[in-house]
Amino acid sequence: MAKPAKVMLNVPAIKADFPILQRTIRDKRLVYLDSAATSQKPKQVIDATSDFYSRYNANVHRAIYELGEESTREYEGAREKIAAFIQAKSPTEIAFTKSTTESLNLVAYGYGLKGKIQKGDEIVGTVMEHHSNHVPWHFVKDHKGAVLKYVDVKDDGTLRMEQYDDLLTDRTKIVTVSLCSNVLGTINPVKEIAKRAHEVGAICVVDAAQAAPHMPIDVQDLDADFLAFSGHKMLGPTGIGVLYGKQELFEATEPLLGGGEMIREVHLGSAKWNDVPYKFEGGTPNIAGAIGLGVAVDYLTKIGMEAVRGHEMEITEYALEKLARLKGVQTYGPKDVKKRAGVVSFTIDGAHPHDIASILDVEGICVRSGHHCAQPLMERFNLPATARASFYIYNDMDDADALVAGIKKVQEVFA
Ligand SMILES: Cc1ncc(COP(=O)(O)O)c(C=O)c1O
Repeated sequence: MAKPAKVMLNVPAIKADFPILQRTIRDKRLVYLDSAATSQKPKQVIDATSDFYSRYNANVHRAIYELGEESTREYEGAREKIAAFIQAKSPTEIAFTKSTTESLNLVAYGYGLKGKIQKGDEIVGTVMEHHSNHVPWHFVKDHKGAVLKYVDVKDDGTLRMEQYDDLLTDRTKIVTVSLCSNVLGTINPVKEIAKRAHEVGAICVVDAAQAAPHMPIDVQDLDADFLAFSGHKMLGPTGIGVLYGKQELFEATEPLLGGGEMIREVHLGSAKWNDVPYKFEGGTPNIAGAIGLGVAVDYLTKIGMEAVRGHEMEITEYALEKLARLKGVQTYGPKDVKKRAGVVSFTIDGAHPHDIASILDVEGICVRSGHHCAQPLMERFNLPATARASFYIYNDMDDADALVAGIKKVQEVFA
């Protein structure tokens, strides 16, 4: 995506919607730079979940009384909003799960392990995936004898696309890739990746956990076959996730959970599944979570995802420039903000990332440290861990400045 004209959101007005951002940490202003792990929630989302419990709490799809009809209407309304948010053809292409992790496991199990994959079939991933887009495919390898192959990452944090072509064969059945890396911030060329996967008859599974909160997504334009994301990273509640799947692929996917509501009929010893997407939603779903996520989608849509992306590009560019001027500080991932999102992993000479995070915490600054559930990527870069700052709609240049000042303090401690 080209860099849009300079757009900065009205951060003070946005911040006013987030109760947690009014608090202090040890008398210091809270500088929350860990939205890649989980975002903060606006009062609109908090109120919507509390409103569900205080005014119309009832199970969905079962009750024929007014409360149940209201909760079902709101729950299904959330599905419609999410379908529109990612340009799905129909709400029936949206299944609620508990997270990206569950969504990816559902695909690996229901389409891979229980479905299409035979011994010797090949699954192509990338070295930069989050563990939740590695481990479910290990299951398919271990239980079905699938062969796993990986596209490597170049030193600049982008995928080695020329290698991708070599990895594709007529045995490739699944290509799975993150739209945006949670460590490098790299935005991967998923449209191109899906196109080439389709040319050899494979499907393309997209992990959009770090993309859906931060940029416009059009599943039809990407031609993604499955696409997964989590509510809690995009202003929504925890415990609610989304799996998008093309209708015909949803039909061809076995459910992960058996139980109430996912069936059409059950007899002793046999059962038939409900229509999609309900066959993937066995048991009582996270109703409040789905409704809260619908309101989070409203909130983001009102701002506009182009504007969200533009805002984050400005802060990321500013932060990268400032960090580049600090001796002894390395950042990872593409330097060009058109190719990356607002996730900035960094290391400081002589300081362990956990020490960096602890010292920043004293300053009221929240950053993540560790391997970020991406150990194969850490091994690729020969790093035990990094510190990671990530920006969202409620961050501004003052937050980037606070990060830089905090890093200088870390360097003083370790001088
Ligand atoms: C790229 C990516 N994929 C998947 C996940 C897993 O998300 P969740 O823990 O919400 O299932 C994360 C979480 O950080 C992520 O960053």
